[in-house]
Amino acid sequence: MKASAKMVRAAWIAASLLLLAGCHVDMWNQPKYKPQDESELFPDRQADRPLVTGTVPRRERPWSDDTTGYVTATGGRQDDAFYTGYQGKNLVTTVPAQAMRRFDNDTKALLRRGQYQYNNFCLPCHGRSGDGRGMITQRGLGQRRMPRNFHSREMRDIEIGHFYDVITNGFGVMFSYASRIDPEDRWAIAAYVRALQLSQNARPEDLPAEERQRLMQPGAAQTGGGGGAAGAANAHGGTTSQ
Ligand code: HEC
Repeated sequence: MKASAKMVRAAWIAASLLLLAGCHVDMWNQPKYKPQDESELFPDRQADRPLVTGTVPRRERPWSDDTTGYVTATGGRQDDAFYTGYQGKNLVTTVPAQAMRRFDNDTKALLRRGQYQYNNFCLPCHGRSGDGRGMITQRGLGQRRMPRNFHSREMRDIEIGHFYDVITNGFGVMFSYASRIDPEDRWAIAAYVRALQLSQNARPEDLPAEERQRLMQPGAAQTGGGGGAAGAANAHGGTTSQ
């Protein structure tokens, strides 16, 4: 008798504890204003406050709603190729001059910057070499859809503007990087993706004559002198010894 009364009491306590656990609000109900809320605090009763005089946008350029380009005061686009990756309806095929200016027209500087930014922003999903097998895609995102391997025939043939466009606007489940990567850096990354593609698909003919000569010498692949180029030629069943 006594024991069962105790059990009933224990059950009650357990049930109330469960109920209480369901009641805590912690951070779910925060005393904060949502956009357009009414406020008792300000004389105009609006929670949204006017911008402080002299405020400037964080980005130095105003962007159109569809995020594809820079809109001038009159609504026209300036330099479509640079800001959108498109010239009219066609994807551009080379890095626009305006992007090269940031890098003093130095291709190496462009690629070095592209490598740095690619490794920061793209590597986690697309992998160091661009094969699409980055840690994040392997660990979950790819279960929805794996990104295409950048070394596929299709991705190698696609215009460089496609890479710029995807960074700007996102693609499928991949979100836009427009707010984090400025246009010059987007072009630098796009150029670096091209370099990655070349690194996995180089032919001996792509090398300067002098390097090709070295590659043809017997045992060139083994000496390691030719480094990546020799490796790439091998991958193609190239001319070096087996
Ligand atoms: C959070 C993971 C993630 C990051 C970071 C990321 N991507 Fe992606 N990307 C994806 C996924 C997933 C897809 C495939 C989306 C789909 O097909 O729905 C994709 C697709 C793409 C495509 C389109 C490929 C095609 O099929 O045409 C390009 C190009 C691309 N990404 C480039 C980049 C570049 C450049 C960066 C760095 C600025 C980057 N991505 C950063 C996950 C990512």
